[in-house]
Amino acid sequence: MLKMKDILDEKDPKLRQISKEVTFPMTKEDLKNIDLMEEYLVNSQIEETAEKYDLRPGMGLSAVQIGVLKRYIVIVDDTEEGFESYVMVNPKIVSTSQEMIYVESGEGCLSVNRECEGIVPRYARVTVEGYDTEGNKIRVRAREELAIAFQHEIDHLNGILFVDKIDPKNPYKNINQYRPI
Ligand code: NI
Repeated sequence: MLKMKDILDEKDPKLRQISKEVTFPMTKEDLKNIDLMEEYLVNSQIEETAEKYDLRPGMGLSAVQIGVLKRYIVIVDDTEEGFESYVMVNPKIVSTSQEMIYVESGEGCLSVNRECEGIVPRYARVTVEGYDTEGNKIRVRAREELAIAFQHEIDHLNGILFVDKIDPKNPYKNINQYRPI
């Protein structure tokens, strides 16, 4: 089971590297990592288990955050119908909305353990293509919070953290051009 200590902190230079494309079939180790990432995210979103194992709540993880420089991500969305998991290998954003949004309360990341002021502009809607763990092509249309999660995790695969997208001189720059969510 993954714990907070297994997740790399922003100071770790690995988080700045570009992750490599995955080839199929995936290794047993990578499949195991995906299970562990999903388990962490689910547990972290349930108050009881989050408290029991001291987990910071998170919606998504990329492999690099557990030290694996490979292009796969896991997102767990807490919906009215329950938890919905998205596992995507070699994900790519293939189209985006014009409209941009930002998380009003501030974007978060399991690798960034501090308060960060400012807005992170994101597309309100994205279409993402990639592969499932068996190598079948998949496509997800995401909006709002889920769309942000995909953009955030794909950034990780390219060595980018959300804090990089905040203008240090003017953290609320052009705020009126984006819709808060
Ligand atoms: Ni993150």
